[in-house]
Amino acid sequence: MLFLGFMTIENNFSLFPFNTFKIDCSARWFSKISTIQELTHLLSQNEFTNADKLIVGGGSNILFTKNFDGLVIKNELLGIEKTNEDEKHVYLKASAGVGWHQLVLFCIENNWAGIENLSLIPGCVGAAPIQNIGAYGVELKDVFHSLEAYSVADKKVIQFNSSDCEFGYRDSVFKNKYKNQFVITSVTFKLNKTPHFKTSYGAIEQELDRMNIKDLSIQVISKAIVNIRSSKLPNPDLLGNAGSFFKNPEISLRKFEELQKRFPEISHYSLSNGNIKLAAGWLIEQCKWKGKSIGNCGVHQHQALVIVNYGGATGAEIFDLSEQILQSVKHKFDVELEREVNIL
Ligand code: FAD
Ligand code: EPU
Repeated sequence: MLFLGFMTIENNFSLFPFNTFKIDCSARWFSKISTIQELTHLLSQNEFTNADKLIVGGGSNILFTKNFDGLVIKNELLGIEKTNEDEKHVYLKASAGVGWHQLVLFCIENNWAGIENLSLIPGCVGAAPIQNIGAYGVELKDVFHSLEAYSVADKKVIQFNSSDCEFGYRDSVFKNKYKNQFVITSVTFKLNKTPHFKTSYGAIEQELDRMNIKDLSIQVISKAIVNIRSSKLPNPDLLGNAGSFFKNPEISLRKFEELQKRFPEISHYSLSNGNIKLAAGWLIEQCKWKGKSIGNCGVHQHQALVIVNYGGATGAEIFDLSEQILQSVKHKFDVELEREVNIL
């Protein structure tokens, strides 16, 4: 252990509690930051100038395939602040270490609409823009106003608006040209004072019927989504996982028509650009992976897109399983799956 003024830096520190896949691995150095001053102080140490750095929030979208030979920074920047409002909107600035679902609940309590469909997504606010989190017909970009991020190279905080972030499906500039170059410190959301309910996606309406709901509200939509998610996604506190392991692949209409001749039941939906999105879970299930286990890991029995750690699996084992899944989908459908989870 090393003391840096008021901060503690741990050596060879276990990352087991800091990743929802529950991989037993370690970081060469590990520190928590709860202020921007602590972050800048930490990054200004000569020892870390050339070290690899990894920011973690909830660790719910990473897979460690080996020990991390660098500095892991656990983001604990907290606080939610209303920065502005007008007749229709509220602008809410949340620090990067705030729990995502905690923010959703805070908005619901205050009747600020826009993120209720993103209920129960694990992780922290600071990671949400990294892959433009999405669920049940809503993506982060739909409520995004701006973010602040500390540039490791320029040693200053820079503001990004929506177009700067180049949001896409499970994608942003922070996964591409700015990978590992910024620490997101806060995100500002533009929320609606009057809700626009989105209930057409998936099983939301069915669940609202089952709940016998007569009057829609953001509270009941959130509850319906929590129920649906809890019924098919494994709780990472009980079974190690990182949500969808792969993205849903996008293919051309021509390729889709060929596939549909061979597989008339193929699960899909049309995109506004004319392409077709396939359900990766369906493709994987057709390759007979659903519920199958190999060693200490396997494919979840209720959701074929989720790889689970039954306990004691290494990251390399999970990565190997993902490779086998990728190859069998490629072989059967000639479709390339892309991993959603960040591999380290
Ligand atoms: P981490 O796993 O800690 O980090 C993810 C990546 O972001 C890493 O590359 C990390 O270095 C980087 N990062 C984290 N914080 C910062 C920061 N402040 N600045 C710069 N880089 C940073 N995702 C969805 O989109 N939709 C879903 O419906 C969904 N459902 C899930 C369900 C389950 C059960 C699980 C386990 C995961 C699910 N996910 C889903 C994936 C995951 O929850 C999200 O990607 C979430 O945003 C990750 O947050 P995190 O804080 O855990 O990120
Ligand atoms: N399906 C199967 N078998 C399966 C799983 C899915 O056939 O085992 C088919 C079904 O046809 C189903 C369709 O796939 O109708 C879609 O399944 P689901 O509604 O469960 O959603 P998904 O496409 O598997 C995506 C996101 C989730 C998000 C949900 C709800 C991706 C990669 N995943 O999953 O996000 O919560 O939609 O919007 O886009 C995540 O990113 O980690 C994540 C969990």
